Amino acid sequence: MKTILITGGAGYIGSHMVHYLLKRDFQVIVLDNFSNSDMSRLEKIQGITGKKIEVVEKDLTDDLEKLKFTGDIDAIIHFAALKSVPESMEKPLEYYLNNVYGTLNLTKWAMDNDIRKIVFSSTCAVYGDVSFEVLTESTPTNPLSVYGKTKLFSEKILEDTPSLNAVSLRYFNVVGNIESGEFGDDVYSPAILPSILRSYFKKDIKLEIYGDDYNTKDGTPVRDYVHVEDLVDAHFKALEFLKKNEGFKAFNIGTGTGYTLLELIKTLETIVKEKIPYEIKERKVGDVERAVADSTLAEKLLNWKAKKDLNDVFNSMLKYYEYRGFR
Ligand SMILES: NC(=O)c1ccc[n+]([C@@H]2O[C@H](COP(=O)([O-])OP(=O)(O)OC[C@H]3O[C@@H](n4cnc5c(N)ncnc54)[C@H](O)[C@@H]3O)[C@@H](O)[C@H]2O)c1
Repeated sequence: MKTILITGGAGYIGSHMVHYLLKRDFQVIVLDNFSNSDMSRLEKIQGITGKKIEVVEKDLTDDLEKLKFTGDIDAIIHFAALKSVPESMEKPLEYYLNNVYGTLNLTKWAMDNDIRKIVFSSTCAVYGDVSFEVLTESTPTNPLSVYGKTKLFSEKILEDTPSLNAVSLRYFNVVGNIESGEFGDDVYSPAILPSILRSYFKKDIKLEIYGDDYNTKDGTPVRDYVHVEDLVDAHFKALEFLKKNEGFKAFNIGTGTGYTLLELIKTLETIVKEKIPYEIKERKVGDVERAVADSTLAEKLLNWKAKKDLNDVFNSMLKYYEYRGFR
């Protein structure tokens, strides 16, 4: 398997995937509409690897009939999507169109062009609010948000397409950046880790924690934080899996360890040897109490296991924020 089409390859996770595959001598083609990215990460990766990336600016909801590439595509890794839970509740039709129709259109194009392997970006949001200690792939799906539903519906499209072989990876919280800190997630992202980093670097920004009355050890919600470099490795293992396995399979991708938000903050405080002040606010609607992965299936069938921990996450982020002029 040598040429991989990466939708959403200019984004946060997609760009780490591009980097991973180029380092392993794959050819990659990036398809992106740049609705939430620009060329900067890909230009950086071309500089780091010395390899040229073929980039096609295209929206997956457009007519794809005339979309052609020179040479054969062996598989698709499909990252392109809108990803904000709160925004999906405000703009449901935009999310259904972009994420569900985008996946449908891509799948149809793939089948028309005899491309039978797809690795799909799914999410633990397909499970909804459940009280289990850990979530397995057989935990009932009951997404609370439109975003979660768009991912579950997309999985069904892949599952129901005859003679398509697809792996859906249900990510837990994806964090961290490339180890060298040369590119990464949006430093202004409202997600919790970027917010912690911003309030550490910019002392005038007060960190806000939403809810300290959950039924957890310190009252703040518990999440499973998986390093983006481990995550892209899971996609590579999924491509390997698809060489030998047919049909559809979903896997949880997380570390299996849950941290409360206060434990996250304490981890960074220990690394930087400074206190990070925070303020407790009301719970946010739609936030679940805990989401921790049981990734035994991925370990067994994909031969994948997370290797990096929270220290690796914070160290890569500290480097990246400094690189972006945050000190
Ligand atoms: N970041 C996380 O913690 C997380 C967790 C679970 C799942 N995911 C999923 O992983 C995938 C990648 O997430 P990310 O954090 O890298 O997001 P991102 O926004 O950085 O990247 C997504 C990319 O897809 C592109 N895109 C969006 N809609 C498109 C369309 N219709 N046509 C073509 N390109 C389009 C955007 O321009 C962007 O470059 C998404 O599917 C997301 O839902 C992310």
